[in-house]
Amino acid sequence: MKWFTPTYYASGISDIDVNNLKAQGIKVIMLDIDNTLVPTSKKTPTPSVVDWIENAKSAGMHVVLFSNNSEKRVSLFNKNLKLYSVHRAFKPLGFRINKIAREYKVRKSEICMIGDQVFTDVWGANRAGVMSVLVMPLSRDEGLGVRLKRHLENIAIKKYRANTYCLIGNPVAHSKSPRLHEMVYESFGIKARYMLCRAEKENLGRVLSRFKYSGVQGFNVTVPFKQDIIPYLDKVDEEARVIGSVNTVVSENGKWVGYNTDGKGFIRQLKANNTVIKGSRVKIIGAGGTTAAIAYALSAEGAKSIEIYNRTFSKAEALANRIKNVIPKNLADFTAADCDILINATSVGMSPDVNASPVDNLCGIEAGTCVYDIIYNPPVTKFMEMAISKGCKAYNGLALLVYQGVIADEIWFGRQMADEQLIKKIIKRLGEEI
Ligand code: ATR
Repeated sequence: MKWFTPTYYASGISDIDVNNLKAQGIKVIMLDIDNTLVPTSKKTPTPSVVDWIENAKSAGMHVVLFSNNSEKRVSLFNKNLKLYSVHRAFKPLGFRINKIAREYKVRKSEICMIGDQVFTDVWGANRAGVMSVLVMPLSRDEGLGVRLKRHLENIAIKKYRANTYCLIGNPVAHSKSPRLHEMVYESFGIKARYMLCRAEKENLGRVLSRFKYSGVQGFNVTVPFKQDIIPYLDKVDEEARVIGSVNTVVSENGKWVGYNTDGKGFIRQLKANNTVIKGSRVKIIGAGGTTAAIAYALSAEGAKSIEIYNRTFSKAEALANRIKNVIPKNLADFTAADCDILINATSVGMSPDVNASPVDNLCGIEAGTCVYDIIYNPPVTKFMEMAISKGCKAYNGLALLVYQGVIADEIWFGRQMADEQLIKKIIKRLGEEI
């Protein structure tokens, strides 16, 4: 039910990036006080709250305290902050929000409400047509009235389960994932939303509690949390465990279960390009998380040999100890000869560093070698250019991005979704936005 779904989730205000709100056209931030900025029992703002507000003000934001609490509570809290404040705001009614829009001469779309309650803060914001960020309540030490409201919130959230999915990472603002997933949902007639959640490492546990409490049924994990998320999950599937990173989590009977869809996404990309995997000789440059996922999947699909060339040999060696058919190599010894599939799985050559390549040349490469880069910006990397000039076919990483996302949707919705027509449409659309 859209009334009870915020625009964004965050574990607390410290996870909310004011510059990101600004980039989305927000000019006024309305802050709930109790259990959003401080626990109900705390009468004055903490230094970190003061800093956050000062930072928002120096970014050019108008900051307003917007509380349903009494004048006494709000004015004591506001004593040194000296912000424009509204007490007895009558959330979720919208008339006080209208007044703020008039006061600052802004449109509703330029206002953001930040609060911890679905029924007052989020519902109020949605009714008024302003953006909202739902944060995890700071303490459970709440009065009977609020506890009753929380109970009702839980019932509403369960009843109107909004099919909400998320991406956790830092940064996430420029992610292509919402567009990608929304195109999938639209295509299959699924009523679901995909949202962004920027988090700090120390708040991951709170973010997950917030998700559980808000009825989020699944989420993706991106840089830098693909490893950090693991201790917070109830179960991790075999593939994700071996490669040591999770990019997709689903709530199964209230338990968080982690998967990694990068490897399967890469295999689907290869198959869509008719690249033969079984019995093939593979060379991968780089030994990070993406290499682990790709190498695992290629090994499971029957690749004959997978040589991993890395600047730091020990990392390639560590992967060889975990994944069958992997041979660790020094990047300095790289040669492009004798290989059917060649992959750049480093970020070398990514925009703006477009003239860089992880290797100087592809001497000895055979014209039949299929070349892949995990980078998609620029669409044709230096590495790909070198391959093309040798008569090879070369593919960028956009398809991998799309396939890994669609496979996440397949896990969440339990149905086949990787329709080739749709995949092509999404790749085209995302490609146009680069
Ligand atoms: P991810 O987990 O997203 O795959 P990562 O862990 O940062 O990314 O891995 C990046 C890989 O690119 C690493 O193997 C890294 O080599 P090191 O293990 O020696 O750090 C490799 N890489 C990064 N910059 C590089 C460069 N300039 N030349 C060669 N390899 C590089």
